[in-house]
Amino acid sequence: MCGIVGYVGGRQAAPILFDGLEKLEYRGYDSAGIAVFDEKIKVCKVKGRLANLREAAQKTDVSGTTGIGHTRWATHGEPSGVNSHPHLSSDGTIAVVHNGIIENYEELREMLISKGYTFRSETDTEVIPNLISLCYKGDLLDAVIDASKQLRGSYAICVMHADEPGKMIAVRKDSPLIIGLKDDEKFVASDIPALLKQTRSVYLLEDNEYVVLKAKSARIFTEDKEEISRNIFNVTFDHSAAEKAGYDHFMIKEIHEQSKAVRDTLTGRISMDKKVSFDMLDKKDIENINKIYIVACGTAYHAGLVGKTAIEKLTKIPVETDIASEFRYRDPIIDKNNLLVIVSQSGETADTLAALRLAKSKGAKVLAITNVVGSTASREADFVFYTHAGPEIAVASTKAYTTQLIAMYTLALFLAESRETLSQAEIDIYKQGLLEIPDKIDEVMKTEEQIAKMSIDLTKETDVFFLGRGLDYAVAMEGSLKLKEISYIHSEPYAGGELKHGPIALIEKDTVVIAISTCAWLKPKMDSNVKEVITRGAYVIGVASEGLDDNDYRQKITLPRMNELFTPVVSVVPLQLIAYYVSTAKGLDVDKPRNLAKSVTVE
Ligand code: AGP
Repeated sequence: MCGIVGYVGGRQAAPILFDGLEKLEYRGYDSAGIAVFDEKIKVCKVKGRLANLREAAQKTDVSGTTGIGHTRWATHGEPSGVNSHPHLSSDGTIAVVHNGIIENYEELREMLISKGYTFRSETDTEVIPNLISLCYKGDLLDAVIDASKQLRGSYAICVMHADEPGKMIAVRKDSPLIIGLKDDEKFVASDIPALLKQTRSVYLLEDNEYVVLKAKSARIFTEDKEEISRNIFNVTFDHSAAEKAGYDHFMIKEIHEQSKAVRDTLTGRISMDKKVSFDMLDKKDIENINKIYIVACGTAYHAGLVGKTAIEKLTKIPVETDIASEFRYRDPIIDKNNLLVIVSQSGETADTLAALRLAKSKGAKVLAITNVVGSTASREADFVFYTHAGPEIAVASTKAYTTQLIAMYTLALFLAESRETLSQAEIDIYKQGLLEIPDKIDEVMKTEEQIAKMSIDLTKETDVFFLGRGLDYAVAMEGSLKLKEISYIHSEPYAGGELKHGPIALIEKDTVVIAISTCAWLKPKMDSNVKEVITRGAYVIGVASEGLDDNDYRQKITLPRMNELFTPVVSVVPLQLIAYYVSTAKGLDVDKPRNLAKSVTVE
């Protein structure tokens, strides 16, 4: 979850590196640094944001036409200047930037120290330049290959050597890396948006591929030094979509984009006059499936919980959900008759990719639902469904989540239609319900001003509870995560019926409880749960569907009437807005919350 960039060509490297790092800062922003090279390697690196690095670079010589850069999410060693990347070998001749975790760094560090190498930082990364130095016998590619074979863990690295000017080596294993191509310049970055200002022609690197970059060439090799010819991937990505476009923050922009993102995701998949299309998934691919697993992390996992309900309701296929970091280590019972669905906005989340690889090793087919074209998940899965949310820059996921829900519903309807578990009349009702969602989102967005005002009162809170039953419980989890990750207010989601089994002991006068109620047949039960907490003094904010909102709520946000199965796409919007306005009222950095990163590419 760091961001790395590289440049080799005829222009000054520093400005190009800064441009790239700016687009990668969402991946980690504890510290930043660059190393540039002409005659010798020069390093400038600081604690804190990219702005601090730009300031520091004004005061030092960063001239050079080859360079590497890094923006860090700290894993080993606190955020500090000395722990920032790039890291140099003891003799200063090799510079490295790294995204990932070297799991055997301690034993390597001891071995290198025994051979006379010295270390300045507490990081795992610093073993890499010293190991390359130990392996170096005059050819940087050979040295990087030999060193990489001794590394355990995940890495995407860029390497420069003072004895080989105008050259850079890049290699990836389990962390993303993209190569940008122009006639007399080459670029490296952790993801595509960081390159778009320079080029739209890229190589999508696979694991254990080594690239030798010079101004006029980018040659890919296996670890056996066999050269690989790779098709150029032309990026059609809309660069402007990765800008704020007049909004104060990316997050509020992306909340406002949800109606369009949902419409874009539905287009070509759901229409009244055609069968449901699930992109490359075909009826024959799913006819023998007897169980589905949905595995993801964080917000994507919450989308999977909604997917479970939808798929089981429409297809009667049993669905098991799990968080990827648990699934990958519990030796799951999964085989060729099961389908693993992974959900991942970035398509690069380490735990989710590990779940994909584990399921494939056990013979299961894997469907990836992702928002990033060319991501590792999209390339390793058997089937891919792209959510057309557009680039999601804010660390807190919003439009990616709502379009993941659309993907889930589309999958459920595709399976139901393929396996004929619903009548055509029932399918049409669900299709109509899906096609109405963008307008329902537009309707609930009209509560934004009311929510902004109400959120001011929540800024002093230290504990907030989210309650819901059924689908509303899954949405409560997502609302709780949103509030925690951007306002730093502790919150807990609870199934409405579960609170009285202990946690209700925490309810006292003015404890804030946000209750979600969109299910008519569960309303009496949910109303009782709300009354149980009101009786104990709670301040209850109701997020309830029209006709279900008649409880003693202190504040309420009324949702438009709609097909109940699809309410999560709409009921989550007020929760996103509450989190956003509480965070901004507290003066926090909404788009880059502390300790977080957008893509968690390490375990
Ligand atoms: C979302 O608000 C969080 N930032 C986080 O939980 C995120 O959903 C999770 O890390 C999964 O990321 P992915 O969808 O890119 O795999």
